[in-house]
Amino acid sequence: MNIIGTGCAHPSLTVTNEMLSGFLDTSDEWITTRTGIKKRQLISDERLEDLATEAATKALENAGVAAEDLDYIICSNVINEYITPSLSCILQGKIGANSPCVDLNGACAGFIYALDIANSFFKSKDIKNILIVCAEEPTRMVDWNQRNTCVLFGDGAGAVVLSRGEDVMAIKLTAVSKPEPLYQMRKLEHTPFINKEEPDGPLVMKGQDVFKLAVESSKNDINSVIDECDLSYNDVNYYLLHQANIRIIDTIRNTLQQDESKFPHNIEKYGNTSSASIPILLDELNRDKKLKKGDKLVLSAFGAGFVAGACLLKWSKE
Ligand code: ACO
Repeated sequence: MNIIGTGCAHPSLTVTNEMLSGFLDTSDEWITTRTGIKKRQLISDERLEDLATEAATKALENAGVAAEDLDYIICSNVINEYITPSLSCILQGKIGANSPCVDLNGACAGFIYALDIANSFFKSKDIKNILIVCAEEPTRMVDWNQRNTCVLFGDGAGAVVLSRGEDVMAIKLTAVSKPEPLYQMRKLEHTPFINKEEPDGPLVMKGQDVFKLAVESSKNDINSVIDECDLSYNDVNYYLLHQANIRIIDTIRNTLQQDESKFPHNIEKYGNTSSASIPILLDELNRDKKLKKGDKLVLSAFGAGFVAGACLLKWSKE
């Protein structure tokens, strides 16, 4: 499987740390030193499906593939305004495709899970092109009075078009059922038969537990894909890590003893956009012509569940 096109889309509203400190007991200094985030793009007037559509359209253009030539669409998404139908099905109509489509909720690791599913589809089906769109609005999950969570997130969408090929060299997925450090529960519609208590509320996060789980899972997953391909850390040109926190990225980089230039980041501009963060970063590198043919990339993401995954691939796009 090869990545032949990338795209991304951001909401129009920029919210800086200074703007947050206007209504929250926080500061640019606290947010920058603890997270690396300076600003984020937030959904205000847009709908997530429109960001997904823009990212998908750009990825299709970049790949030179027409929407009607897509054989499958996979959307990675935690929440959006629709409970049903799926975001991928709404997107399919908006871009003018006619393929089957499916959503997955792999939290912040959703892009790696989607890559694994796409890879299996190429092996099991007679298909040519798959579109993955990761579209997320985590800023609608947090309580905007809780400074420990709301400052961390941004909204956005990232997309890739995939075709047959040998570029993806290894994928490792992990899942440990451990919701306590990071979860959100919502109340469903009432019925006359419900007697249980039903929790409802914003995202709950134990930041330090998430930090440790993220570092541990990412290190293990990266080791696993590198070992599987019989490579060393030095053989990898770029490590694209989920953009959750610059200190998580730095901790992993220090363990691997690799140069800072190998860990591109954009968390300072967008905050944590959940599963969209890696495809957005990949699109920036692709469009800035930073990636050279033959470069080896490791993608690594982690999120609520606790789920995680890494992918090692060769870049062959000109
Ligand atoms: N501004 C100012 N002060 C704050 C803020 C804020 N935005 N948020 C918390 N504080 C305060 C706390 O109230 C606490 O005050 P106290 O000492 O008076 O009680 C103090 O800062 C320290 O709080 P901690 O939670 O201990 O701070 P920590 O150094 O652990 O940093 C952080 C918090 C940034 C969330 C860190 O734990 C972290 O990065 N964890 C990883 C979580 C993460 O990345 N989540 C993203 C979503 S999950 C994912 O993508 C996988």
